[in-house]
Amino acid sequence: MTAEIKTERLALRPWEDSDVDFAYDLYSRWVVQRFIGTEPAVMESRSEAVERVRRFQELQHPVHGVWAVTRKEDGLPVGTLLLKPIPASGEEPLAPSDDVEIGWHFHPDHWGSGYASEAATAVLEHAFAAGLPHVVAVTNSANEASQSVCRRIGMEHQGTTKKYYNARCELFVVKNPATES
Ligand SMILES: CC(C)(COP(=O)(O)OP(=O)(O)OC[C@H]1O[C@@H](n2cnc3c(N)ncnc32)[C@H](O)[C@@H]1OP(=O)(O)O)[C@@H](O)C(=O)NCCC(=O)NCCS
Repeated sequence: MTAEIKTERLALRPWEDSDVDFAYDLYSRWVVQRFIGTEPAVMESRSEAVERVRRFQELQHPVHGVWAVTRKEDGLPVGTLLLKPIPASGEEPLAPSDDVEIGWHFHPDHWGSGYASEAATAVLEHAFAAGLPHVVAVTNSANEASQSVCRRIGMEHQGTTKKYYNARCELFVVKNPATES
């Protein structure tokens, strides 16, 4: 069951069937998709959004999750926060590695508000409270906005890597302060 997480301004909750229109609005935008995946593509039909929400709902795990990030004041969905095993490079279909990644996709109407960093900080706290030793994030080299989020939430840049997703990415890592030796 995906844990509910609250921050000062946001509520992170499991995806609901009623979020399909928001998912379609979010993932049909090139500005959102342009740095995601090895062959970025926008969502082209509402049925793809139905399928995406279904996949988000499937990830049932006590620690990992794909959250719908909503604004507390009015319940409006503003983005997605992910915490899940990151696929290792190798033969398709890619198998999960031992590392857990954090990721974020926010609606451009809500960029520049600090929402991604606020939600990600809370998810990192949740991950570390559950005992994960470290969390990684990977970004396209050109994705400066996402790299800024990594830095804002205390992740350290460790250069580029080809370890994950069969792609060269910028690697960011943060260690669990409670288990760091
Ligand atoms: C990556 C992404 C989530 C970053 O969004 P963002 O809104 O810039 O990130 P933050 O939530 O950290 O907000 C920081 C901005 O809000 C501003 N801000 C305003 N109020 C703030 C507050 N209370 N707290 C913190 N920052 C605040 C900051 O100054 C900063 O603006 P700046 O970049 O102009 O200096 C967004 O660009 C996105 O969804 N992109 C598409 C998907 C994507 O590429 N995902 C990553 C794949 S690796």
